[in-house]
Amino acid sequence: MTGRISFRTGAATTRTTGVCLALFLLMPTGCGSSNPGYEATLRYPARTQPLVLMVPTVVPTAPAAPGQLDAAILALRESGGRIANPKSLPENPRTELQAIIETLFGTPAAPTVNLPAESAPIPGLDLSAEKLAAGSRLYKRLCVQCHGLAGDARGPTGPFLYPYPRDFRQGVFKAIQNPAGQGKLALPDLGQLIRHGVPGTSMPAFDQLTDTDVQNLTGYTVHLSLRGEVEFRLLKALLDDGEDGGVDDIPAEARRQTARIWEQWRLAQEPSSVPVLPDSDEAITRGFTLFTAQSGAGCLSCHEDFGRKDVYRYDVWGGVNRVRDLTKGEFRWGADPESLTRRIRHGILAAGMPANPNLTDEQVRDLRAFVQALPYPPRLPPDLRAKIYPGSP
Ligand code: HEC
Ligand code: HEC
Repeated sequence: MTGRISFRTGAATTRTTGVCLALFLLMPTGCGSSNPGYEATLRYPARTQPLVLMVPTVVPTAPAAPGQLDAAILALRESGGRIANPKSLPENPRTELQAIIETLFGTPAAPTVNLPAESAPIPGLDLSAEKLAAGSRLYKRLCVQCHGLAGDARGPTGPFLYPYPRDFRQGVFKAIQNPAGQGKLALPDLGQLIRHGVPGTSMPAFDQLTDTDVQNLTGYTVHLSLRGEVEFRLLKALLDDGEDGGVDDIPAEARRQTARIWEQWRLAQEPSSVPVLPDSDEAITRGFTLFTAQSGAGCLSCHEDFGRKDVYRYDVWGGVNRVRDLTKGEFRWGADPESLTRRIRHGILAAGMPANPNLTDEQVRDLRAFVQALPYPPRLPPDLRAKIYPGSP
């Protein structure tokens, strides 16, 4: 079933079948429906990549060279960033941390999520051993080359992509619904991302997966994120003396963090509706003014020349992203009016785009109507068209 994903045409399928047949003769598990998953002895690696505690406040001028993310992150210290390096952690807390994380979250072949008894369930999220193992097998096949064994974005291909694949271990995402979830995704959105991919990036659409496959992948992604964030929080506490101080009881703290982060995932599932008000030419014009005016919403300070100018911002992972060119009509986190309304209201905090809690619903509507019409000159009122696309008919 999953073998169909990348082969759409009959000709390609035939060729693939031939290759599979040849492979099958050589090694019986090479292709087809058997999906062997990870070796039983494989462990998730202990985190060695630097933790980004705070990115510099200066504006970056370009992304890191391909493959150089970790070096670029360590170098953020020189421009005022706060970075902690797990490699400087002594052997002893390191082993203890690794052991409790394995107790709570298992191994790649046998993943688990051991929640504290008091944690409330998340409806629709089945993290049974069987579902997680199925998710892990699919992940190994479809995602690991980019998102990495531990959801670390350091799969073999990951560091060479721009933008970088998501590092799940910070527990923060971009396509969020409900800010009460502290950056966690709603499960249906996570499913949609897997099905439709992220336009304008290398994240492909896996649109031929079954609903069960998508559910299993969703559960496994939550597992990796939860596991990675518990590790992140504990390493931060152990390395960053200033804020959290030391940790006396590592296993107890790991369980406490697991419960806390789980609660954020739970809150991220709660519905949070944003009003989607109707469009009009007047709304588009008011949106243009809000977007561009000195006293407006400040969009132009990043989306210079409506995003046509190369402007960059740090993301919370220490990467550097280009501010979106809004004349291209490339909306990565949902192009429908409701998703865009959310993006403008809640910002894309992980990417450095601020929220706009002080705008009225009408102002958010105006900005959304403008941003949606912007890529299409014929949809803009003539005077705006002349200002934004001089020379266009
Ligand atoms: C070819 C590389 C590649 C593969 C394969 C891939 N991804 Fe991604 N993924 C990306 C990139 C690139 C992004 C977008 C990063 C950005 O724009 O910030 C991304 C983003 C994501 C996000 C973050 C969404 C958000 O709101 O922040 C999730 C979740 C995700 N991918 C899950 C998966 C899963 C699950 C699979 C396997 C079914 C997968 N990806 C396969 C490259 C990949
Ligand atoms: C501090 C910089 C900053 C400011 C101010 C800012 N943005 Fe952004 N914006 C960004 C960045 C960076 C991205 C790319 C995010 C990503 O990685 O997907 C972005 C992306 C977007 C997107 C694309 C969303 C998607 O789904 O792909 C829209 C729409 C957008 N901004 C609208 C606005 C509007 C409207 C305003 C003013 C209210 C605004 N932005 C203010 C930095 C900013």
